[in-house]
Amino acid sequence: NFVGLVGVPFEKGQKKEGVALGPDAIRKAGLIDELKNLGLDVKDYGNIKYEPEAVAGVDNMSHLSEVSACTRELSQTLQNIMKEQRKVVTLGGDHSVGIGTIDGHVRAKGNVGVLWVDAHADLNTNKTSDSGNVHGMPVALLTSELSDYWPHLPGMDWQMPILSIRNVAYIGLRSVDKYERLVIEKFGITAFGMEDVERYGIHEVVHMALKKIDPHADKSLHVSFDIDSLDPLEAPSTGTPVRGGLSLREGIHLMEEVYRTNRLNAIDLVEVNPQIGDEKSVDLTTEAAVHILQAGLGYTRRGLKVPAGITD
Ligand code: ARG
Ligand code: MN
Ligand code: MN
Ligand code: MN
Repeated sequence: NFVGLVGVPFEKGQKKEGVALGPDAIRKAGLIDELKNLGLDVKDYGNIKYEPEAVAGVDNMSHLSEVSACTRELSQTLQNIMKEQRKVVTLGGDHSVGIGTIDGHVRAKGNVGVLWVDAHADLNTNKTSDSGNVHGMPVALLTSELSDYWPHLPGMDWQMPILSIRNVAYIGLRSVDKYERLVIEKFGITAFGMEDVERYGIHEVVHMALKKIDPHADKSLHVSFDIDSLDPLEAPSTGTPVRGGLSLREGIHLMEEVYRTNRLNAIDLVEVNPQIGDEKSVDLTTEAAVHILQAGLGYTRRGLKVPAGITD
């Protein structure tokens, strides 16, 4: 039961200051002690450092050189942690960090299924994005089916879009741009929005999603959890909140069910911005993040078992 924790104080994938402080705010909310209470061996690899290279810019894609340098380093870090037989928890930073974590996971394990838990699809290219923010583009950068829709991206040559979009499922969507919707329909992407959570309940939705991306139950699973998937009443300190989201209970149940597969090897927890909202809002948000991560790493609301050797 080995876990590696890495922080990515990266905020260039969007335009609001503060999301780079997410990793330390989540640590400060007590994450490491809570994970140790679960009996896990937790190693904190600290925060990622990187040197942005000067590369030519690309139309409607902000800060590409920072994104490429940071995610390249992160992919390597993820592979190193997995080589040490640890599950990886990555604290963002904005959601562009998913480019690095999922690339690293795929290189380390090959056969990977991704649950992208988010209010947004993050499926834009530089041609379809209204914002030019890379945190709205990671899924399109990672997947092989979308690779034809990109121009050459200087600095990103290290990144191989080797993941098939068939191995990705969305949960929690409620703010999907027009072209993102078109792409979801064109490729038949597995996408469970809030209306599906209403109709089927979170338990069914998680299992339907897993069946789609991992029909033989043999993949290494990755949950990329954008805190804005949760309702802003429960997680207000985030840059692109959307009303009508998952309750924390639904988020916890989702993570508990994926944990039970025994194949959840990487979790990203992104878009916590401690500079948005008052102190109470920040505490709610970082505490929600800790609960989500605990649930994904074996915490159970029934109470933990007494460790072997202590009974009788
Ligand atoms: N779809 C919008 C965009 O492309 C919002 C993306 C929000 N992404 C996020 N990771 N919070 O800019
Ligand atoms: Mn996102
Ligand atoms: Mn989002
Ligand atoms: Mn309590």
